[in-house]
Amino acid sequence: MNPPSRYLVTSALPYANGPLHIGHLAGAYLPADAFVRYLRLSAKDVVYICGSDEHGAAITIRALREDTTPQAIVEKYHKMISEAFEHMGISFDIYHRTSAKIHHETSQDFFQKLYDNGSFIEKENDQFFDAEAGQFLADRYIIGTCPKCGHDEAYGDQCENCGSTLSPTELIKPKSTISGSTPILKKTKHWYLPLEQHEDWLRSFISEGLLDGEQHHYPDEWKKHVVGQCKSWLDAGLQPRAITRDLDWGVDVPQQIDGAKGKKLYVWMDAPIGYVSATKQWAKDHGKNWEEYWKDDDTALVHFIGKDNIVFHCLIFPVILKQYGSFNLPINVPANQFVNLEGRKVSTSKGWAVWINDYLKDFPNRQDELRYYSFKIMPEQRDSDFTWKGYQEAVNNELVNNLGNFIHRVLVLTNKYYNGVVPVFDESISINAPQESGLPTWHDSELLDLFDKLHDLRSYLKSFDFRSALKTLMEVSSIGNQMLQLNEPWKHEKTDPDTVKVVMNLGLQYVTAISVVLDIFMPFSSKKLRSMLSLAPIQEKGEFVDIMDALSEGKHLIQAGHKINKAQHLFSRIDDGDIAAQISKLKATEGAKEENEVAEGDMKPTASFDDFSKLDLRTGTIISAEKVEKTDKLLKILVDLGFETRTVVSGIAETYDPEELKGQEIVMIANLAPRKIRGVVSKGMILLAEDGNGKLGFVSAPKGWAKGEVVR
Ligand code: MF3
Ligand code: ZN
Repeated sequence: MNPPSRYLVTSALPYANGPLHIGHLAGAYLPADAFVRYLRLSAKDVVYICGSDEHGAAITIRALREDTTPQAIVEKYHKMISEAFEHMGISFDIYHRTSAKIHHETSQDFFQKLYDNGSFIEKENDQFFDAEAGQFLADRYIIGTCPKCGHDEAYGDQCENCGSTLSPTELIKPKSTISGSTPILKKTKHWYLPLEQHEDWLRSFISEGLLDGEQHHYPDEWKKHVVGQCKSWLDAGLQPRAITRDLDWGVDVPQQIDGAKGKKLYVWMDAPIGYVSATKQWAKDHGKNWEEYWKDDDTALVHFIGKDNIVFHCLIFPVILKQYGSFNLPINVPANQFVNLEGRKVSTSKGWAVWINDYLKDFPNRQDELRYYSFKIMPEQRDSDFTWKGYQEAVNNELVNNLGNFIHRVLVLTNKYYNGVVPVFDESISINAPQESGLPTWHDSELLDLFDKLHDLRSYLKSFDFRSALKTLMEVSSIGNQMLQLNEPWKHEKTDPDTVKVVMNLGLQYVTAISVVLDIFMPFSSKKLRSMLSLAPIQEKGEFVDIMDALSEGKHLIQAGHKINKAQHLFSRIDDGDIAAQISKLKATEGAKEENEVAEGDMKPTASFDDFSKLDLRTGTIISAEKVEKTDKLLKILVDLGFETRTVVSGIAETYDPEELKGQEIVMIANLAPRKIRGVVSKGMILLAEDGNGKLGFVSAPKGWAKGEVVR
């Protein structure tokens, strides 16, 4: 495996059925954007592909809901989504759409080729048909009572109440959402991709990174949750997957095929091929050869997606590509988990979301602030939580107080002391070194320190660890701030001007390095900073390599004698009022009124004294805690109650590390009926307080209280 000389990077094609929200952005777009910017800054050949997914039930259902046509829906949202991406600085090389002719042709070509080479099987079965509307019903078009939990608005493919995966015939009292009538079962023939025939090679592809007997990638470079999800699909046994539908919206099954009339490609047999058709379009527009990007051995294919798309990108699309032949398979699929909002699942239908368009209106010219916070909370390994308070704190404490402050001090003082001209650096003068550097004084090694930090940052980017990469950038700025603090140029400028020149020169080297790397995370600020430094804007043509080369040779990044421009603040504080406004906007939505939730000031109905006295509350101490296998949220906790040891399962794994819980004093309901949770019998419940932001804290008796005492 040689390092790739070319990259094809994709982000999941968003359905053109609604505006973008922060979960989309942090899930599949910002990480890809950072990755491609980094590659371009490293002088790599890269093309970044995306576009609107304009087919599938997601679109037609939206049309039904908005009482308009699918065409009108895709026009409206394609425009809205592509503008939001542009405003947020997502640097696609092409943002295409699956309604394009070239896409219809390309996906039909895929279908035809796989049809011809015997990759499909045909099956006839019964499907729900709405006789009143005269059409077959996609799973999502059928609602009924969930056989598992009794929820009466379960969809034909899934119950949103209990999360079960369903098939439409399992629904009790199914109803068509189109006409409201009871659908009838009618025979229909479809083509299927027999995934079970591909199990063997998929398993070695996923588990060992092998393809056709060769090392294709290293599986431990893939995220654990991605590999884990694929393995559990494989372990459950793959099934033939229908790849056509009886619909009137989508890409036609090639009409020369017998029985194709009235049939469309299933959206997952269409949308991912959108990556190919978009590449073709881009190549055409730029005089490139698209095939190099899809077929050459030395091209690396990377798919950025959200976790709900994992099987499609790691199992199904690879089968399609392999059956077509000569296409590359992805060397990595760095899927992200989900972003919650203020402690609750994002719900677009309930309006519980941060919409990008709204954000841009409410916080004009603060794209980088949102980018920054999204990288900071990127759900790389587990679900994360967007809170407005967290956003405000990140901006005020980190962007304003650390990064912005460092840059501003350096530029202001350079203007003040030297009229904006970069002072000379006298190698013989040592200054006080920041603690982080581990050196007593700084002389000629300080730029190597900077090199090391940037080197770490680069390794994090390579391994898709964007949170750590961003943190490292902020450390560069902290070191810069410490250096200023320790050497206090503002005190010594009159008495020791030569030393102050060294300090300021170093500060400027740091700021210049930051101006390059900033392009990856906060491109708008990079641009402003470059202009303040009177340096050319970043073109993403190898500038990162250039500064690394310079630093490793002991060269400076900005030269003595260069004149910079006036300083402006890069970031400004977010007021409490702005945050309060966002929170009350959220509280006004449907999503805020979830069942079982008690809002501040709102009480549950009165409980009688008898109700209360049924509960046996006891003090206790946590002996140990461990994660419940295959869950993100659950911890299995052993509690010492003095008179016995209890096992309790608690959904707090996202807040607490098992290790830190040892010795924690708690109060628990000791006589709650036992419940089996994920195979573990939980006897009781530990009490926790939750604040408005979903932050948890233990309820406990005063320190040192004996175990097993009654709480009343
Ligand atoms: N539109 C799908 C979604 O939002 C993603 C499609 S990704 C692609 O879940 F590979 F099909 F393009
Ligand atoms: Zn259910």
